[in-house]
Amino acid sequence: MKSRARKFITARPITNVAIHLMTNQLRLGIAGLGTVGTGVLDLLIRHEPTIADRCGRPIVVTAVCARSRSAKRGGHDIKAFTWFDDPVALAESDEIDVFVELIGGEDGPAKAAVEAALNAGKHVVTANKALLAHHGTALAKLAEQSGVALNFEAAVAGGIPIVKSMRESLAGNQVIRVFGILNGTCNYILTKMEAEGRDFAEVLKEAQELGYAEADPEFDIGGFDAAHKVACLTALAFGTQVDYASIYVEGIEHITLADIRNAGDLGYKIKLLGVAVETSDGIEQRVHPTLVPKNSPIADVDGVFNAVAVNADFADELMLEGRGAGAHPTASSVVADICDIARGIILPAFGIPASRLKPYQRARMRAHEGGYYVSLELYDKPGEVAAVASIFSDSDISIESIVQRGPTVAGVRDTAPFILITHDTLESAMRTALKRIEGEGHAASRPRMIRIERL
Ligand code: HSE
Repeated sequence: MKSRARKFITARPITNVAIHLMTNQLRLGIAGLGTVGTGVLDLLIRHEPTIADRCGRPIVVTAVCARSRSAKRGGHDIKAFTWFDDPVALAESDEIDVFVELIGGEDGPAKAAVEAALNAGKHVVTANKALLAHHGTALAKLAEQSGVALNFEAAVAGGIPIVKSMRESLAGNQVIRVFGILNGTCNYILTKMEAEGRDFAEVLKEAQELGYAEADPEFDIGGFDAAHKVACLTALAFGTQVDYASIYVEGIEHITLADIRNAGDLGYKIKLLGVAVETSDGIEQRVHPTLVPKNSPIADVDGVFNAVAVNADFADELMLEGRGAGAHPTASSVVADICDIARGIILPAFGIPASRLKPYQRARMRAHEGGYYVSLELYDKPGEVAAVASIFSDSDISIESIVQRGPTVAGVRDTAPFILITHDTLESAMRTALKRIEGEGHAASRPRMIRIERL
């Protein structure tokens, strides 16, 4: 050993491969050096010795791939790394042990490169929720066939360690429900509307000007970003195959300031929740604006913050709150996944072997049972409230509380907002009742409902 080591030092230049063999370092190839990629470099450099101590080996970036070679990367000199133009070539390179995918997108280069890495026997760490929501089961199988990790903590709620908590800390529990505020943009908008008494459109415009919301915000405010995260949480919680296409999705674009105020008067706040829950009809996966009781912990999660709560049979209730986006919180999760690999902790992506993930059995939304907030613009004349009450009674819907406001427009007495909260009822009954109210001409505009989550 002694003579070989001496020969190594004296007879040849020390190559990257030689250093790797001598130090047992874990070599990373990072594809995508945008906000999160730069955050990962920041973290790995700032905490290099601590991370090496904690993992028992150094973690080094050896190669990178990004759109532009000349872009500024938060002051990092990327010339020190081997450059790849093609993420697939980086994924297959002998210079790396772990492929860190920070490109994004459900298909295209991200998918091709992740598949290439897994096929080449490289561990994968990704922040790509769209990729996992659409191809999670197939990629998990591929990872297992190759005996490598597919880690995705950063894909679900940014800096919140919910994947690890569910995969490891709750491994002995049966999960009953997992739910959360999974989109910071929506939470920011709803929080501002409530706190400042402003309309949705006005707050959205400001959020875009401040860079909190995307120029095309549909993906966030339409609930699709949150649904990607729900798809991953469902598989982790219930051991089912990932099924994004079956998720019921409603965004926050129709929530009015009046809804927020009415809900407030009745003891609730409105949040965009993502929920996965086992019912007698199957597993509900849903994303929609939701009334949550003001005294529930999740009601206090405001602004850009995310939170994920789990009801589990032994651990009971827990909730993790934190930043769901941003360079450093997301980098924190990416690096935690890398550290696991460095420590030799390789677990099935969704907590159980991919071949044992059960087909997802969808619960129909019509079979959903819960409370509802209903907003009606009733004609302001005798008998309308009685007619509505009778329709609800015919559908076996029991009313918990009612608020009738004055006329919508001062001095005009044609219509009046009529708000009610129901006891738990079947969604199919609620839809039938609202259809009748509309069809029989009791309301001047389309009746609206918002689901209530019992917490
Ligand atoms: N756009 C997301 C949000 C962060 O607003 O929370 C990334 O999923």
